[in-house]
Amino acid sequence: MNAIETKNLTKVYSNNFTAVNSLNLEIPEKTIFGMLGPNGAGKTTTIKMLTCLIQPTSGKATVGGYDVQKNPDEVRNLLGMVPQQVSLYKDLTVMENSQLCADYYGVPQDERDSRIEDLMELVDIKYAKDKRVGQLSGGQKQKASLVASLVHRPEILFLDEPTIGLDPTTKRTLWDLIRELNDNGHTIILCSHDMYEVDMLCDNVGIINTGNLVAYDTPQGLKDSLLESNKKEMTEALSQISSENDVSTSTKEDIEKLSLRKMSFLLKNQNDEIIDSIRKSEDVKSIEVAHNGRINLRIDSFDDMAVQNVLNEIIASGGVIKSITTEEPSLEDVFIKATAEVNEDDRA
Ligand SMILES: Nc1ncnc2c1ncn2[C@@H]1O[C@H](COP(=O)(O)OP(=O)(O)O)[C@@H](O)[C@H]1O
Ligand SMILES: [Mg+2]
Repeated sequence: MNAIETKNLTKVYSNNFTAVNSLNLEIPEKTIFGMLGPNGAGKTTTIKMLTCLIQPTSGKATVGGYDVQKNPDEVRNLLGMVPQQVSLYKDLTVMENSQLCADYYGVPQDERDSRIEDLMELVDIKYAKDKRVGQLSGGQKQKASLVASLVHRPEILFLDEPTIGLDPTTKRTLWDLIRELNDNGHTIILCSHDMYEVDMLCDNVGIINTGNLVAYDTPQGLKDSLLESNKKEMTEALSQISSENDVSTSTKEDIEKLSLRKMSFLLKNQNDEIIDSIRKSEDVKSIEVAHNGRINLRIDSFDDMAVQNVLNEIIASGGVIKSITTEEPSLEDVFIKATAEVNEDDRA
């Protein structure tokens, strides 16, 4: 079953601005979904409609099978929300805010405070439980907000840029918490600009641009299709070359950029013999030995066996590898491409 389904979901604000434009989206239950998109893409607006904070202008959305317009109370009971802007009462303490939330959702009284304290311990904010929210730092507010939104154990949790402003340790605590919730069957919708976070945590990723879904797949699937589309671009560029006599340098550079990727080694025992045998390898398109001893190569981007072949070559010639990195398409590359293409279409 899907935790979230939208059909032509649209939001036109009162100033006639269309922030979400006929969005169709399905998020399977018990998965972690990453929502990516540039500033102003319509992510927060989408989340606000799904959490019944604002009304859609047209289209439909269901959360846990309930229609957000027809059954907002049922929807609210299913979900927890950590908003982009912390929305706790500034004059109440962290504890009081959490209690208020718990009472609102009907958390049993005899469980309430112990649940709150457990969560506080989990995100490490217990030391500030009697402080007023208005006196907390940004990161502390974020933690307090997390406690308040989790106290009723929501089936579906929305996190709108939850790790912004968190220190690295707290960030990792939150990632662990997200994984743990998901292991326990909760569906998580995560809006983030942190590509590493999304790549590492999410089962599926949707990229939203100017109110539309422009890409949807697993993180690996998105990267694979970027590679595919680069391959297509390269083939097109190559056919252009064979049909034109005068090929510009920029076309040549483009082709090189698309067709070659970097691979870099640090060897324990570098010598001319090893370098020579790497140089002779068919898979190695260029080689450079850096000052720090790293050997930087360029290999064919689209050849699945290239890394393996180069490795074999090095080992066969007696090289002992200390470290190795290879360049691969990142989620950031996918993001830049997916959002740039639509901008170009818009301009056309
Ligand atoms: N209340 C509002 N009235 C008019 N326009 C709005 C309102 N809220 C947001 N917008 C506009 O809608 C677009 C999408 O905003 P938002 O959903 O916050 O984007 P995101 O969260 O992806 O950065 C932006 O251009 C923003 O300026
Ligand atoms: Mg936003």
